[in-house]
Amino acid sequence: MTMIDRRQFIQAAAGSALLYPATQFLPAGAAAHRFELTARPGSANLLEDGSAKTAIWGFDGKVPGPVLRVKRNQPVTIAVHNKLDQPTSVHWHGIRIDNAMDGVAGLTQEPIAPNHTFEYRFTAPDAGTYWYHPHNRTWEQLARGLYGALIVEEDVPLAVHRDYVLAADDWRLERDGTLHEASLGHMMDWSHAGRLGNILTLNGKPYERLTVRNGERVRLRLINTSNARVMRFGIKDVDTWIIAIDGQPIDPVRAGKQGVQLAPAQRADIVVDITAKPGEEIPIAELSGEDALAAGYLVCEAGAPNVPVDLTSTPMLHANPLPLPEAEPAQSIDLIMTGGAMAWLQSAQFKGQSVDGRTLAREHRQFWAFNGTAGMAPKPLFEAASGETVKIRMENQTMWPHGIHLHGHHFKILSRTGGRTRIGEPDRSDIGLMRDTVLLEAEETAEVALKADNPGKWMLHCHMLEHQAAGMGTWFLVRP
Ligand code: C2O
Ligand code: CU
Repeated sequence: MTMIDRRQFIQAAAGSALLYPATQFLPAGAAAHRFELTARPGSANLLEDGSAKTAIWGFDGKVPGPVLRVKRNQPVTIAVHNKLDQPTSVHWHGIRIDNAMDGVAGLTQEPIAPNHTFEYRFTAPDAGTYWYHPHNRTWEQLARGLYGALIVEEDVPLAVHRDYVLAADDWRLERDGTLHEASLGHMMDWSHAGRLGNILTLNGKPYERLTVRNGERVRLRLINTSNARVMRFGIKDVDTWIIAIDGQPIDPVRAGKQGVQLAPAQRADIVVDITAKPGEEIPIAELSGEDALAAGYLVCEAGAPNVPVDLTSTPMLHANPLPLPEAEPAQSIDLIMTGGAMAWLQSAQFKGQSVDGRTLAREHRQFWAFNGTAGMAPKPLFEAASGETVKIRMENQTMWPHGIHLHGHHFKILSRTGGRTRIGEPDRSDIGLMRDTVLLEAEETAEVALKADNPGKWMLHCHMLEHQAAGMGTWFLVRP
């Protein structure tokens, strides 16, 4: 790119910002942002015919909760009020945050009791697409609708005409639209794939419709907020750039026919250049099943783009200042995943004792283990001095996929071997990239490495939330 191109790029970006909500215009260095979020019951229209109001729990009573837009490196305060009848907490998924603000009930804070408030204060060091959700009984609270997008804006915004969040969710509803409550906490889900739903929504709607115009460049921020479903998204018949995964910019690649795969909690930023004519509707397709499913539409309205954006340019983001792992790790850790249906645990350590599989299942609802331990162990999986590179070899010996998330850090995917999927080949496209959540297919092994530079007690768990609750959760310690 020449200097002149570069200047046009920035001007175009500034102009296109007119389409964004006003919150984006706070001058850099403005006073700290403050947000209020209330976790409370509410209702949503999740069914196609709009007939049913589903009783949900949501931030500010809505699903998804409000999109929080913050500036990189700007301190924010988010007061969370709990108006539920059970304790909660909020985790800022993917943010390299101060440990005390990580929101993990029982590890980094006491849960927020009903009618109480907790103030989260943090500064997000990395731009990108993140999200927030409870970290207490997550399997129930997320399934009921408690989640929202957290967008950390780039210092120099990407030159696009529109910037949309697409929070994908997978609901298990009765025919009349009420949440299938009887199966919350069901052993079948806990020991198999997790809670899978029968209704797919984008932004809490059965068919989200997003306005676009011919000639526009559109950024879509996809977030998989489901409890357990691995999804795959693509824009039908449109060449799409993938520009970031799990918040982190990548060298843009074309998504291709297979779209972009998202395990629970994973995100992808994609860019679409609109060539459709006014009146046309471009399906946003979910591709994980045998047949592609229209989950929503980009609806092309009349009119030309109101500012120029150079559509021949590659939509590139600047890298975040992530600490990268060194080639030689200071320590190498194994994380062996066992258990679940078809490979039941014979026994495991549970709360410091060896317990047989049958008792684990019947009395403790535990079905899975990391390194032979079900549930949070008294000792951390590993301890690292700040700045140490830790390599983790994750070996999935179970018959089910798992999306492993590690708090407070991003890690690099070094390798992937083996693995079986229900349809198609295991996805290898993220090797070499930085992620906060990695999908391991049944019997797949992945090696990842992180620079452990964020002091505190951090969780490492499966983001199939029933698996987390049923044993797949542990923690590690980074010393100051
Ligand atoms: Cu998105 Cu431990 O969580
Ligand atoms: Cu799992």
